[in-house]
Amino acid sequence: MTAIGIHDLELASTHHVLDLGVLAEHTGVDPAKYRLGLGQDEFSVPAPDEDIVTMGASAALALLERTGTRGVRTLLFATESGIDHSKAAGVFVHQLLGLPPQVRVAEIKQACYGATAAIQAAVGIVQRHPDERVLVIASDVARYALDSPGEPTQGAGAAAILVSADPALVEIEAASGLFSENVDDFWRPNDSSTAIVDGKLSISAYLDAMTGAWDDLVAHGGPDIGAIDRLVYHQPYTKMAKKAQARLAEHTGAELGEAGLAEGAVYNRRIGNAYTASLYAGVASVLDHEPGLVGKRLGLFSYGSGSVSEFLTGVVRPGAAGRDDRFTAALDARVPLDVAAYRELHAQQLPSAVDVETPRVTEAPFRFAGIRGASRRYERR
Ligand code: CAA
Repeated sequence: MTAIGIHDLELASTHHVLDLGVLAEHTGVDPAKYRLGLGQDEFSVPAPDEDIVTMGASAALALLERTGTRGVRTLLFATESGIDHSKAAGVFVHQLLGLPPQVRVAEIKQACYGATAAIQAAVGIVQRHPDERVLVIASDVARYALDSPGEPTQGAGAAAILVSADPALVEIEAASGLFSENVDDFWRPNDSSTAIVDGKLSISAYLDAMTGAWDDLVAHGGPDIGAIDRLVYHQPYTKMAKKAQARLAEHTGAELGEAGLAEGAVYNRRIGNAYTASLYAGVASVLDHEPGLVGKRLGLFSYGSGSVSEFLTGVVRPGAAGRDDRFTAALDARVPLDVAAYRELHAQQLPSAVDVETPRVTEAPFRFAGIRGASRRYERR
């Protein structure tokens, strides 16, 4: 059977960044709590003319400039932070990228899990039509209330993932483990721009879902823990991956230590949480920072609060040998905010009933130009 999986993977983030040392000074919290306790150094903050569409389109543009658009007949946009209750954010991206009308576009939602659901749907489409390729975009702005415990775990970013037959980067293996359960650990009602979260419950729900999904993977013919060379986890903050790896070691009896955690956290420590994109930022981080992974097996744990989770595995393909740290320069180029400017951006909400033009701030390829006639407008810079 033909191998199917991730052919290419690209990340994008925002114009601004808040250093958690600056936030710590404001909150009076020991900065070590953020850097060591949560494992986070910074978080990305969108400019007024950036959102999930502009980040997702920027990531996809960079990817498609390498791969071309041949065979792309499906665009799946995964997000927790959608910009419309009805229209898929991917429809805007489809236009910005100049894709032809012969493309199916849809949005997938289940908190941070959505991108994994999109990738599995993409694998199914490619299995049926091996000449087709599916563009999956995961893009989110993670927002919690100011002065809440979740505040230092905010962030923003996008991953563009091209799923194809005979993939260059990672073959997704057939067996996967699932675990779903109705739990009130994190959710966001339609009228709220910030998530409601029970932090402690979210941590235990994540860990229980992980062992549940692992057991289901084993029950469905997945590999032994000893046959997995690197584990990459959804990282709401990078300390969570450490907790997950320790729990998995305890659960399976394997000696996992902290292997691979630092390599898988390089980008996430600086982006913050990017919900659907976080696991795939971790995958990019591992591929870009750990040489010698070709032929090795990755275990990927995807968790979406509420909750749906999946443990899947993939084998790294030769194309990954050409990767290097391609994203740190973009993160370094972000413009730092002070706390007052960050709080002002956090408070900003554009009512759809009022026409508005956003200021020109972003230097990314695409910008959110504003609202006209209750409709969002985007443009290429
Ligand atoms: N030096 C070093 N470490 C310190 C420290 C210091 N001075 N002070 C505290 N710490 C450590 C604590 O010991 C703790 O470590 P452990 O978790 O290993 O015990 C860590 O810093 C955090 O401290 P607290 O537990 O006191 O933190 P908190 O109550 O302020 O909140 C949180 C932590 C619950 C994660 C909060 O940030 C939050 O609610 N975040 C949003 C929810 C979230 O990310 N949940 C994760 C699972 S859900 C999920 O994955 C889906 C998703 O994307 C949201």
